[in-house]
Amino acid sequence: MLKAEIIATGSYVPEKVLTNFDLEEMVETSDEWITERTGIKERRVSGKDQAVSDLAYEAAKNALKQCDLKAKEIDLIIVATVTGDMPFPSTACILQDRLDAKKAAAFDINAACSGFLFALSTAESFIKSGAHKRILVVGADALSKFVDWADRATCVLFGDGAGAVILQAATGDSGILSTHLYSDGSFGEMLMLPAGGSRNPASKETVRKSLHAIKMKGNETFKIAVRTLENLAVDTLKKNNLKPSQLTALIPHQANLRIIQATANRLGLPMDKVVVNIDRYGNTSAASIPIALDEAARTGRIRKGDYILLEAFGGGLTWASALIKW
Ligand code: UT7
Repeated sequence: MLKAEIIATGSYVPEKVLTNFDLEEMVETSDEWITERTGIKERRVSGKDQAVSDLAYEAAKNALKQCDLKAKEIDLIIVATVTGDMPFPSTACILQDRLDAKKAAAFDINAACSGFLFALSTAESFIKSGAHKRILVVGADALSKFVDWADRATCVLFGDGAGAVILQAATGDSGILSTHLYSDGSFGEMLMLPAGGSRNPASKETVRKSLHAIKMKGNETFKIAVRTLENLAVDTLKKNNLKPSQLTALIPHQANLRIIQATANRLGLPMDKVVVNIDRYGNTSAASIPIALDEAARTGRIRKGDYILLEAFGGGLTWASALIKW
């Protein structure tokens, strides 16, 4: 049976590092609080002139280099982001132009922190249906541009970055074995960016009330995330008739180290099988899984034939998983 296989990965994070100690100078917080509650030590922040398409471009170029494909050979580009350059054109169209990927259709997907897995699943379906042959999927976000730097409950959490994968059809036993997507819009207010859309168009009032910045009910979101992700990981393995011990790596969305540890505990998975980079990058939203996947692939942590579980949870609410035989 036809499968979609990841033939290359790439990632990019901006140069500027913002440490917990830097944040101590900006809001009433401490390195100790941030480290204990989240696992984050530092994050990357994009420059004034750097938009999400710039991060996506670097990640995509790195992925293309890895498989010696030309951008012209890509026939679909999907970008998962909630911090696109502007409402439209889509960031995927901006990226298509930058890459000179003339043959590619391009569109964005919004599923917040689960966005990369929603995009991966969409790409998988296009490949299996035969509609597209070589697909570039990018998860990219620059949430540093959308946080209220006076709100210590959110500004310490997020960082910027991009990760990319290239997919093509495969007939062997390697490839994406299954993807699983879920949403519950009734919890939309848990995690949102209230203004700038048609509900609350930008005005002096929305700016004054800081409604163009992320609002999160952190602790409530945390509790739902732990419960949901634990069950999601168990179910995804069950659906593939796999035991946790058969996994080489769990690559989770990097929102909070305690959430990641809870999922690993539930699976009985030692932490050395879990790919963690939240200490260096914070929560990079749709970029966190493809950045971690790229780092794991490049450092030889995952090899051909390995089983890998990806899982994410984010605004919407949305949650998703993918089981891959590398
Ligand atoms: O990626 C998408 C999905 N996102 C998530 O899954 C994130 C889920 N949430 C979390 O990761 C955690 O809830 C946070 C890291 C955001 C917060 O950790 P928490 O253990 O849930 O803390 P809390 O919100 O219950 O706050 C505990 C205390 C509060 O003080 P009081 O009321 O106990 O006096 C907060 O005001 O910590 C205080 N606090 C801080 N203190 C120092 C909140 N932020 C900070 C801070 N520095 N940056």
